[in-house]
Amino acid sequence: MNMHKHTIVAMPGDGIGRVVLTETIRVLEKAGFKASYVEGDIGWDFWVREGNPLPRRTIDLLEQHQIGLFGAITSKPKDAASAELSPSLKGKGLVYSSPIVGLRQHFNLDVCIRPCRTYKGNPLNFIRRGPGGIIDEPEIDVVIFRQNTEGLYGGVEWTNPPDIVYRGLASHPGFMKNFGDVPVEELSVSTRIFTKRATGRILRAAFGYAREHGYRSVTVCEKPNVIRETSGMMYKMAREIQSTEFTDIELWNTNIDAQMMWLTKNPENYGVIVAGNMFGDIVSDGFAGLIGGLGFACSANLGEKVSVFEPTHGSAPKYAGYPVSIVNPIAMMESACMMLDHLGEKETAAGIRGSIARVISKGKVRTYDMLKMPGRPDVVKQGAASTRQMADAVIENL
Ligand code: NAI
Ligand code: MG
Repeated sequence: MNMHKHTIVAMPGDGIGRVVLTETIRVLEKAGFKASYVEGDIGWDFWVREGNPLPRRTIDLLEQHQIGLFGAITSKPKDAASAELSPSLKGKGLVYSSPIVGLRQHFNLDVCIRPCRTYKGNPLNFIRRGPGGIIDEPEIDVVIFRQNTEGLYGGVEWTNPPDIVYRGLASHPGFMKNFGDVPVEELSVSTRIFTKRATGRILRAAFGYAREHGYRSVTVCEKPNVIRETSGMMYKMAREIQSTEFTDIELWNTNIDAQMMWLTKNPENYGVIVAGNMFGDIVSDGFAGLIGGLGFACSANLGEKVSVFEPTHGSAPKYAGYPVSIVNPIAMMESACMMLDHLGEKETAAGIRGSIARVISKGKVRTYDMLKMPGRPDVVKQGAASTRQMADAVIENL
């Protein structure tokens, strides 16, 4: 019988996903989080052996328990994937597709949250020249809300589009003016579809978070002056939602290109940022770079029923085979803290975050990325902490 309130579907996946998840669960247990874990199969091994990187039994586990903690998976291009299938599965027309994208779509995990917050004393923090040439280290506290299922990543695209699509496009005066003389076989089209339902959900999630966590503003980061329909709809809906439901929160509007420039000029001015799928992806990587990069970038994918928490980094295959793992587990631990917040275990989350902050500010235990070392197996001999040593330090500082 399950003695615990929470059951977590732990999906280690491939490569470094396995080690960062194992170490993170150790931290969760030591921090007093009472939960049972069931392992969810996902990733390359299951593609190779079963022809499906996201087996039905994993979907069922998530359906049942509703909370997933995910490490990372390895994806490879279509042909490379087919070549690695076990012999009995070859030639059956199986086509590889990324299981994490599959999860987001299957459970409609349409709200993606990516916080980027400065840890004091992190040697990877962004610095800039301030007034009089002084070196300035702005404190960043930004939370990006990225629409996770639609837009340019929605998968509706063609090369050499079929006739019915071509005729639809040709009915648009802009198409005829700019592309009317291009032979259809020379056309590639990727659509950018926004729906009111999903746009409303990501906007309300962003405004609600701003209110709950005391942020003054929500910035819509799109490009409505050029992408008039999709970006335009998002901004218009943001104005309506702000003026009727969230008058206590300011609405700001930036263009993605200008935002990427302002990122390094005044990142401390931003609070909650909301964007469509691709611009959310871009702006969140931009802010992550200011607070330490992939070793620190965490995320939550929230659906109406199921939620999955994951670091934004991948499986880093080149570091996966090391006898002693050297990668930074903090992004995974931070993702687990987002899971704790989601489950209402806020004190435990705060405890782990506080401990990570102490380890970083003391500066004695640092993984290779924090020391700007090339990631070779001998970094531990040169004073870098291993993945396990970093987790040990977080446990000691709880
Ligand atoms: P990656 O994120 O795995 O690694 C890029 C580089 O970032 C690494 O070589 C390493 O230098 C650094 N890095 C990543 N995580 C780190 C950590 N925890 N600590 C310290 N350094 C870290 O991205 P890459 O190399 O483009 O892709 C590798 C594989 O991962 C591919 O098969 C890709 O498809 C997959 N991938 C999976 C994702 C997911 O599961 N959500 C996301 C991104 C990539
Ligand atoms: Mg990305």
